[in-house]
Amino acid sequence: MTKAFIFDLDGVIVDTAKFHYLTWKNLADSLGIPFSEEKNEQLKGVSRAKSLEKILEWGHKILPKAEFESLMFKKNEEYLSFVNQMTEKDILPGVMKTLDYLRSNGYAIALGSASKNARLILSKVGLEAYFEEIIDGNEVTKAKPDPEVFLKGIDALGGTPKYAIVFEDSLAGIEAANTACMTSVGIGDKSILKEADFNFQDFIEIDKSVIETLIKFKK
Ligand code: G6P
Ligand code: MG
Repeated sequence: MTKAFIFDLDGVIVDTAKFHYLTWKNLADSLGIPFSEEKNEQLKGVSRAKSLEKILEWGHKILPKAEFESLMFKKNEEYLSFVNQMTEKDILPGVMKTLDYLRSNGYAIALGSASKNARLILSKVGLEAYFEEIIDGNEVTKAKPDPEVFLKGIDALGGTPKYAIVFEDSLAGIEAANTACMTSVGIGDKSILKEADFNFQDFIEIDKSVIETLIKFKK
């Protein structure tokens, strides 16, 4: 089999990571729980419910189920108010060039995201058609760092894990790809994503020769 590519969404394809940060910060502030960019790193790639559980844990708070659900709903409503304004201008630099290259060379491409808003976001920025398979937060039961989302992605593409190359901006996602024995490519801060097989600041750095290197790499 030729190699297949699995993309995370938030913080890899689009800059929605900043909207997640803002809306979690507002929620934490409203509960009087200290929240920082450093803490936010631990929420990247993590499902909505797990993220709220972590924030409450940091604040030593336990909430009744109904209140927990209502906070998740509120957070998502605020997040969606940003998402609804998104256009193709929100696609991160270099992403289009990479997707076009992979597609025109016949490589299989899937999305592997913890977000339940993934399809909405892809349609907002006009990228749905690039993905042969979309595995998102509605289809997984175990959050990253569990490899479920990526294993389902490669399975849907008809491949096996060692042929998969995963692009991720989160610690949890890199761990998930490594656990699945896939090639892990960190997008963003190398000092944070040190466990990745490869690191790049963004997709501008990922040219044709880099893609060839990723394809030849054996874990
Ligand atoms: C991604 C983001 C997380 C987010 C999760 C769930 O993995 O990195 O920050 O919490 O998706 O997103 P959702 O859109 O379903 O709230
Ligand atoms: Mg991400």
